[in-house]
Amino acid sequence: MTGAEPFVGRPIPIGSAEYDGSRFASGHTALDDWIRTIARRAEGRTARTYVVVAESGELAAYYCLATGAVARAASPRKLRKDAPDPIPVAIIGRLAVSQAFARRGIGSGLLQDAFRRIVQIADIVGCTAVLAHAIDAEAAGFYRKYGFNEFPDGTRAMFLAVAALQTVVGEPS
Ligand SMILES: CC(C)(COP(=O)(O)OP(=O)(O)OC[C@H]1O[C@@H](n2cnc3c(N)ncnc32)[C@H](O)[C@@H]1OP(=O)(O)O)[C@@H](O)C(=O)NCCC(=O)NCCS
Repeated sequence: MTGAEPFVGRPIPIGSAEYDGSRFASGHTALDDWIRTIARRAEGRTARTYVVVAESGELAAYYCLATGAVARAASPRKLRKDAPDPIPVAIIGRLAVSQAFARRGIGSGLLQDAFRRIVQIADIVGCTAVLAHAIDAEAAGFYRKYGFNEFPDGTRAMFLAVAALQTVVGEPS
């Protein structure tokens, strides 16, 4: 990121955020529609959404977190050891960066923020893995960069063991 680019803040809870989402365009209509029309209604009921707002007030990016469970048979073998059926997971439900803000490290920052929050969740309740559903093959490539593995192959269900997060997240900032 160079100094010429507009400042964007850290992810904050949608409930305490004010922003203009009218120009949000991630390249995926489903992700754009969700943040515009569903996120605030879902907040605290089925998901928690965190947003990144640019200095201009424009919505730059968002992701949401939820909890869930995955059948052992649908989970990677290394997560099954000593795990119940179904296996408890934290879900990164949606994650998107508006194209005007792409390739500046914001997507990576969203994931780091999600990981920090999931480590906190796992300190309180049992949680074996992080599950993300990649919207397309490119998104699957993005998640792979951060250690996620697809299972079963071809489904774009991406898993990462919670035990691996502590090293990724490091010390709290
Ligand atoms: C994928 C996405 C979140 C990346 O956001 P971003 O802010 O542009 O990404 P960053 O600048 O943080 O890049 C982080 C790393 O991911 C890589 N990356 C970025 N977009 C990528 C893509 N589409 N496919 C694979 N890797 C990608 C970058 O090259 C970078 O790697 P590097 O550090 O080795 O250079 C964003 O392009 C997006 O919202 N896409 C549409 C929706 C989507 O695919 N969401 C993902 C989950 S469904």
